[in-house]
Amino acid sequence: MFSHKSLLLLSVFSLASHSLALPFEQRGFWDFGIDGDGGGSMTVMMRDEEEGSAVEELPPPDFHVCPFGCHCQLRVVQCSDLGLTEVPKNIPSDTKLLDLQNNRISELKENDFKGLSNLYALSLVNNKISKVHPRAFTPMRHLQKLYFSRNLLTAVPKNLPPSLVELRIHDNNIKKVPAGAFAGLSKMNCIEMGGNPIQNSGFEPGAFKGLKLNYLRISEAKLTGVPKDFPETLHELHLDNNKIQAIELEDLRRYKQLYRLGLGYNDIRNIENGSLSFVPNLRELHLENNRLTRVPKGLPDMKYLQVVYLHSNNISQVSIDDFCPRSFGVKRSFYNGISLYSNPVQYWEVQPATFRCVSDRMSIHFGNYKK
Ligand SMILES: *[C@@H]1O[C@H](CO)[C@@H](O)[C@H](O)[C@H]1NC(C)=O
Ligand SMILES: *[C@@H]1O[C@H](CO)[C@@H](O)[C@H](O)[C@H]1NC(C)=O
Repeated sequence: MFSHKSLLLLSVFSLASHSLALPFEQRGFWDFGIDGDGGGSMTVMMRDEEEGSAVEELPPPDFHVCPFGCHCQLRVVQCSDLGLTEVPKNIPSDTKLLDLQNNRISELKENDFKGLSNLYALSLVNNKISKVHPRAFTPMRHLQKLYFSRNLLTAVPKNLPPSLVELRIHDNNIKKVPAGAFAGLSKMNCIEMGGNPIQNSGFEPGAFKGLKLNYLRISEAKLTGVPKDFPETLHELHLDNNKIQAIELEDLRRYKQLYRLGLGYNDIRNIENGSLSFVPNLRELHLENNRLTRVPKGLPDMKYLQVVYLHSNNISQVSIDDFCPRSFGVKRSFYNGISLYSNPVQYWEVQPATFRCVSDRMSIHFGNYKK
């Protein structure tokens, strides 16, 4: 039996991943409170759940099965912020959501999750895990979400469940992703692995083989160029806060399906003429806080481009054909966000017709150049 309250909880959960498609810098549901404030929407929601049911029900019959110190309700087992040094025993076998974040767990052992074949989501965020037994995940035949950020992993854990849809392993210590690291994960949709000290050479050829990802984020790493070997299914690629110096002609060749490309806070000086023609479906392009000296070539040909962030660069000139096509009717969607502030361009010298394919004058953020 599966009460509608827990269904509600689960659907909020899956909303968190659907929302990936909307805000540019989304945050995962469980990412709240990972700074150690111990709060978070998970906790808040669980509290609501408790309040809602306290009046109407006695403790369920399997009350005693809950691990000491944890809260077990509606197939959600919450054991966060307990100072645990290992995965607790006696986790009920019908558990759907297991929250172990903000503890001091250092290792996942072979039988830690024994019998938990119904688990749908597991959070291990903010622990000290550096060792994962190669069979630790074997029992989780239905696991879809694994949140493993803020740990001490030096490698992507082996033998992740083939049912996995979303993996978050940002802020670990991963330097290398060998070929086949994600082998067999054909349902995976979203990987967040920023904040790892990984360089371009850290991705072996074939590292992403077999993945049909929609979303990939590798921000705050040590990339010096756009890796060319990511899955070609990507709709979103976020590589902000790296050390990328240029976009070369072939760099985006593989990513024809991209809707959103995040390259802000890099060292990009040049975007080679023609390189954007490989991403004709792009809606959003983030290039803020780089070292560009001109608006990238090729924007007028991008029929669907609506948002271009170019603020905080070194652009000293904006020409009349930098953004919009010359002929009418080519552009399918008008821009609704162009940012150019904090550039040495004198905005009164930019001809108003430069923005003839912008939906509304309020969509252009110019401001003054501050030095
Ligand atoms: C960029 O390439 C296009 C053709 O792809 C060409 O027409 C144009 O002159 C080039 N612009 C520059 C600045 O090289
Ligand atoms: C900005 O560009 C000019 C050339 O247009 C160059 O002399 C200057 O060093 C650049 N500034 C920065 C901060 O990169």
